[in-house]
Amino acid sequence: MAIISKDIEQAVQFLKNDEVVAIPTETVYGLAANALSEAAVSKIYEVKNRPRSNPLIIHVKGIEELETYTKNIPEVAFTLVKNVWPGPLTLLLEKKRIVPNATTAGSERVAVRMPDHPLTLALLQELNFPLAAPSANPFGYISPTKVEHVEKQIGNKIPMILDGGDCRRGVESTIVGFENNVIIIYRLGYLTEEAIKAAIGNQYEIARTTQTKPVTSGMLPYHYSPNTPLFLVDDLEKAIVDLNPEETGIVSFNKSFPAFNHCRILSEKGDLREAAQRLYASLIHLDGLNLKQIYCERLPDEELGKTLNERLTKASNKSKL
Ligand code: TXA
Ligand code: MG
Repeated sequence: MAIISKDIEQAVQFLKNDEVVAIPTETVYGLAANALSEAAVSKIYEVKNRPRSNPLIIHVKGIEELETYTKNIPEVAFTLVKNVWPGPLTLLLEKKRIVPNATTAGSERVAVRMPDHPLTLALLQELNFPLAAPSANPFGYISPTKVEHVEKQIGNKIPMILDGGDCRRGVESTIVGFENNVIIIYRLGYLTEEAIKAAIGNQYEIARTTQTKPVTSGMLPYHYSPNTPLFLVDDLEKAIVDLNPEETGIVSFNKSFPAFNHCRILSEKGDLREAAQRLYASLIHLDGLNLKQIYCERLPDEELGKTLNERLTKASNKSKL
């Protein structure tokens, strides 16, 4: 089983030896390895059982590293990162040759982000390479936001989990690319469209896309899915009226359902940030109870709620296949 520790030096040793280490970020735990080493990156794909066609985000220690790994960076990209980094924003930019094809799955673009977690930033300071890191879940499953999730999901396949406590944000970064004067959102994540607008002002258009090559996980038909069938509903009260409380898990935004023992309330005060922080942990908890089904309430479809609803739609698609 993996060593669970806050010891950065130990993580440095593993990473320098081309091993993988699970690392904390503010969004979700990542499964990290030397992004410049094909051998190390290859281990990430093996542990996650992830298709090799699905590229990895590289995690850097500072804004100045953007120019080490990418080229033809538009001005607006600098404006964005100055406002948001370290934080839940990933940029898709043209890669320099130093970034191996294995990391980008053959794409000429590389995804880059600077995570906002003190342990991982301290770790990056000790390394002379960036860390490739997808979320630390087996491919297709819910992303881990606690050490115990990582331990349970892949702890027997990796040497170490760097223990940074619970992730403060709880959903993945927002991924954006640039085309002329348009900012394209490939995956809506913790950073909302409103926050992007606030950072860049009015002279840029923001668009959503449904197509990339390689495909971004937000675009796969299902993802982030529990094994228990998950149903996303508008009116939870109505949807669960005839269901057996013993075999049904409930994820509610802010109301309690006392008849149901297995009910998780995301935020009693109705705060979307708190709901985001608790969402994956709630799903993972309920998924561990061997229930027949999980019913989850659609969140208010505004700001961060849009992100959470997109994730929940993907997560529930598996039960429709
Ligand atoms: O918050 C996050 O972004 C977390 C933490 C660990 O940083 N990472 C994360 O990585 O969510 P992952 O691999 O689970 O999701 C990243 C998505 C993948 O769907 C991948 O296809 C897409 O980013 N991606 C990465 N590089 C890309 C590229 N060069 N072109 C298109 N999509 C890319
Ligand atoms: Mg992922």
